Amino acid sequence: MKINTPLKFAILICLIISFFVILYSYLSTLFNPIIVGSALFIIYFSATYYLLKYQFYEKVKIIYKNIYKFKGTSNISDLNLENANIEAEQWADQKEEELIKMKENENYRREFIGNVSHELKTPIFNIQGYIQTLIDGGLQDENVNLKYLKRANLSVDRMINIVDDLEVISQLETDNEVLELDNFNIVDTINEAFDQLEMKANNMNISLKLTNESNSDMVHADRNKIQQVFMNLISNSIKYGKDNGVTNVRLFDMSDKMLIEVADDGIGIGEEALSRLFERFYRVDKNRSREIGGTGLGLAIVKHIIEAHQQTINVRSTVDVGSTFSFILEKGKN
Ligand SMILES: Nc1ncnc2c1ncn2[C@@H]1O[C@H](COP(=O)(O)OP(=O)(O)OP(=O)(O)O)[C@@H](O)[C@H]1O
Ligand SMILES: [Mg+2]
Repeated sequence: MKINTPLKFAILICLIISFFVILYSYLSTLFNPIIVGSALFIIYFSATYYLLKYQFYEKVKIIYKNIYKFKGTSNISDLNLENANIEAEQWADQKEEELIKMKENENYRREFIGNVSHELKTPIFNIQGYIQTLIDGGLQDENVNLKYLKRANLSVDRMINIVDDLEVISQLETDNEVLELDNFNIVDTINEAFDQLEMKANNMNISLKLTNESNSDMVHADRNKIQQVFMNLISNSIKYGKDNGVTNVRLFDMSDKMLIEVADDGIGIGEEALSRLFERFYRVDKNRSREIGGTGLGLAIVKHIIEAHQQTINVRSTVDVGSTFSFILEKGKN
C-alpha cells in the first residue's frame, strides 16, 4: 500500500506514535527512563523526518523546481510550502494566458492566410477571364482586345498593391524597432503628400488644407514612415470623402510633443466599424473600397508605424459628417 494521501499519512504517524509510546512504557520499566526517552525521541524524530522529506517534501520540490526551473531549492528554507501553492497558481494562470494568446495568434494567422488568398483570388480570376476571352477569339476583335488587356493590367496592379502592402506590414512586424529617427520638417512632408495626391483630390473636387497651430514645424520621427502615414490617411480622406469636400491636416502644440490630425468631411464611419478599422483587410464598405482599389491594409500599416513610434493612432467619426484620425509625435530640434 502506498502512503500517498493525507489520511494514510495521519494513520501512519498515529501508528508510529502509539508504537513509540508502548515501547517507551515497556522499556522505561527495564532501563533508565531518561535514556530510553532520549533514544526513542531520536529514532522517532529520524523516522518522521525521513517520512516527511522523502514522501512529501522531495515530491513537492520536484514540481516546484519544474515550475520555477531557476529556483533550484536545495535546503528546506528555500521552499516555503505556503508560497508554493500561490506560486503554482500564478504559474498556472500565466501558462493559461500564454495558451489563450497562442490560440488567438493561431486563429489570427489562419484568418489572415484566408484573407490573403481571398483578396488575391479576385484579381487572378479577373485576369484569367480576360485572357481566356482573348484566346477564344477576343484577340481579333478590335472592340474588346485592348479594353480587356487594360482591365487585366488593372488587376495586375491590384495584385501588386496587395503584395506591396503585405511586404510593408511584414517588414514592420519583423523590424519593429528599426526606425530611422531624425529631426525633420513635418510641414514639408505634408505638402509633399498633398502634391502627390493633388490629382486624386481634384478628381473629387476636394481641397487639401494645412493648419499649423504648433509653435514648431519640426518633429523627431522616421520621415519615410511618417510620409507613408500621411499618404494613407490623406488618400483615405479623399477616397471616402464627398464631392467639394475639404481635408484638413491640423498641427497642435503639446509642449514637447505635437498633436497631428487628419480630418475630413466625408462619408464617416459607423460606431460598430470603428473598433475594427485598423485590422488587416477590414473595410467598412467592401464593394466601394474594392472598386476604388483599396486593399484594406492602409490603416493596419498606419497603426504599425505609429505604434513603432511608441504612440497610438486614434479615430473619431460620425456617419455623413466626417472622420478625424489623430496621433502624437515628439517635437524635433531645428
Ligand atoms: N477617412 C475615412 N472616411 C471613411 N471611411 C474610412 C476612412 N478611412 C478609412 N475608412 C474605412 O476604413 C477601411 C479601411 O481603410 P484602409 O485604409 O485600411 O483600407 P482601404 O483604404 O480600403 O485600402 P488601402 O488603404 O489598403 O488601399 C476603408 O475601406 C474604409 O471603409
Ligand atoms: Mg486606405
